[in-house]
Amino acid sequence: MFGAVHFGIVAACVVLFVPMGLAGWHLSRNKVLFFSGILFIALFVGVHITPYFTSVSSFVNTFPSTTSSLPVSYEQDDRDVCVSVLHNVIYEFKSGNMDGPLNDSSVHEDLSWYWDKSGPFVGCNFQKLSKVDASDLLNGTWVVVAGDSQARLFVVSLLDLLLGPEKMEAIRGDLFKRHSNYQTVIHSIGLKLDFLWAPYAKNLTDIVMEFMGNKRYPDVLVIGAGLWDMLRITNSTEYGSSLQHLNTYLVSSLPVSPEYSTTYPVSGSVSVPTPHLFWLGSPTLINRMLNTEEKKVKMTDALYAAYEREMHKSKLLRQSAGPAFLLDIKSLSQKCGDQCTEDGMHYKAAVYETAVHIMLNALIIESQQKL
Ligand SMILES: *[C@@H]1O[C@H](CO)[C@@H](O)[C@H](O)[C@H]1NC(C)=O
Ligand SMILES: *[C@@H]1O[C@H](CO)[C@@H](O)[C@H](O)[C@H]1NC(C)=O
Ligand SMILES: *[C@@H]1O[C@H](CO)[C@@H](O)[C@H](O)[C@H]1NC(C)=O
Ligand SMILES: *[C@@H]1O[C@H](CO)[C@@H](O)[C@H](O)[C@H]1NC(C)=O
Repeated sequence: MFGAVHFGIVAACVVLFVPMGLAGWHLSRNKVLFFSGILFIALFVGVHITPYFTSVSSFVNTFPSTTSSLPVSYEQDDRDVCVSVLHNVIYEFKSGNMDGPLNDSSVHEDLSWYWDKSGPFVGCNFQKLSKVDASDLLNGTWVVVAGDSQARLFVVSLLDLLLGPEKMEAIRGDLFKRHSNYQTVIHSIGLKLDFLWAPYAKNLTDIVMEFMGNKRYPDVLVIGAGLWDMLRITNSTEYGSSLQHLNTYLVSSLPVSPEYSTTYPVSGSVSVPTPHLFWLGSPTLINRMLNTEEKKVKMTDALYAAYEREMHKSKLLRQSAGPAFLLDIKSLSQKCGDQCTEDGMHYKAAVYETAVHIMLNALIIESQQKL
């Protein structure tokens, strides 16, 4: 801790040198003594009140001890740059396997991804976290993922990482019960994970209002709704106003400070960045591949673009100084391409796995930003 000793030295210097400086400005000895007295009292009060704020600063560090043991560390200057290139990934099919039958597991195995290390951003030490590191990072946290089928696939990838594929298979059935919530606790790391089925933007608002009512917020909140809304409501204006509502609630109710919501380092104010908020974007839609006539007719490129515009207009995202970090499924799915999807809207696991690792790396960068 930047502790009492440092503070004491600084205080002593101030008490000693400020009045001496003032004396240099030809103040009378009485005035110097007067200023010394005032300064002394101010510092005394400061020193004795500071301990009450240290509890605030430790509260700010949601992931305090864990990040130090992770194999990644960032210089302050690199962080903004690194956050901005987190989505620079490359998908690669192992050659020769494209002709075979495209069943799910074969594609999963043959498809790999990695961060693009070319370009000026070699310094960003992004890492695919191992099960151990991810468990370490999320140890003792409460994670809530709310949204439509994309959010469910994101949960699958997260659990895949934390539990391993075998244990994941065992619970896949429960997780994929249609239109239902799913809750689990991974006791070994004290992680509580909730998936909340929230297909419409309005459902997300309700969830946030409930947190507000209970005054209990998860440590990590991942939300995203769009596709279902496009298909069932098909009205970008309504979507936009729902998102604006949502943003208003988030900004006013969740303890996310506005300063913190930019990617720039904060100085001079205490920010309370809980929960860590992520927006799970909608994937690139490939209209000709959509699997029903209704979807093809309703979920057009024009409607998608209109939803995107409303999304950005709502100012939910960090890019527009909002509270949520975008997990850009659109760009990831586009990079992966149409060989990564069979129905033009749900993509191969690699895409959601990428999003999980982007989130974890963002958490690492952010928790170091606070230390
Ligand atoms: C999928 O492909 C893999 C490898 O090509 C094969 O071992 C597996 O049996 C296939 N699964 C199904 C369900 O066809
Ligand atoms: C989780 O944290 C607890 C207490 O901080 C610690 O005892 C435990 O070993 C951690 N578990 C993992 C898997 O990191
Ligand atoms: C989501 O919102 C719709 C429309 O308001 C509502 O009918 C539905 O019950 C909500 N679903 C959940 C899971 O809250
Ligand atoms: C979309 O919703 C708005 C507000 O509810 C309504 O005024 C508008 O007519 C709707 N647009 C379409 C195309 O249904």
